[in-house]
Amino acid sequence: MFGCEKNPVSLTMRDSTGRLVAIALNKLLEKSKAHDQTGTPPAQEKSRLLVSLLDDLERGIDLFATYNTKTIFELWMLSVDKTFGQLGIATALASLSLDLAKANNAGAVKCLAVSQYSAKAAAKNGLETIRTIDYATYEFNGDKTLANLTDLLAEHPVARLMARRI
Ligand SMILES: CC(C)(COP(=O)(O)OP(=O)(O)OC[C@H]1O[C@@H](n2cnc3c(N)ncnc32)[C@H](O)[C@@H]1OP(=O)(O)O)[C@@H](O)C(=O)NCCC(=O)NCCS
Repeated sequence: MFGCEKNPVSLTMRDSTGRLVAIALNKLLEKSKAHDQTGTPPAQEKSRLLVSLLDDLERGIDLFATYNTKTIFELWMLSVDKTFGQLGIATALASLSLDLAKANNAGAVKCLAVSQYSAKAAAKNGLETIRTIDYATYEFNGDKTLANLTDLLAEHPVARLMARRI
């Protein structure tokens, strides 16, 4: 029913008519390359709250050192068309991404999971939670900006840094 393509570390999935139904965008992070502070564009150039939250999730944690590796594979963005939700597609794409991580000699895989569902897909593939940030209490520019999103928070209370050794 589905076709799945990789390009070169990312995956797309289409239905039998060719319509895109799911993507797993991944990144290969090299220790030597400037993905750290020196290479990071100023926060104001990005969606600042989200970037701030994602930065805080990883702050002070050196996964290259934790896993003693020069290459980390990041499960960067995962998205599945609602029509095809809860069928295990995200879990399957994460599993296929792990294969790509191995094929690219990554020593570890990481994921910044902002939803409980992507966190479940990652956990089912052996990624463990290393740090959580509680949306309700997260402060940005002195405000708990996300605290009012009660419906959303009931379903997705925390963002997680997750990782595993390959
Ligand atoms: C998150 C997302 C990729 C999950 O895709 P999916 O193919 O439905 O996920 P899976 O079928 O592999 O399900 C993984 C787990 O999440 C649960 N889940 C997924 N969607 C759910 C929903 N709407 N309600 C309740 N549980 C849900 C599944 O039941 C499963 O849990 P289980 O292991 O206890 O059975 C998809 O919902 C999505 O694209 N969301 C919007 C984008 C997004 O949030 N991306 C992640 C950013 S980090």
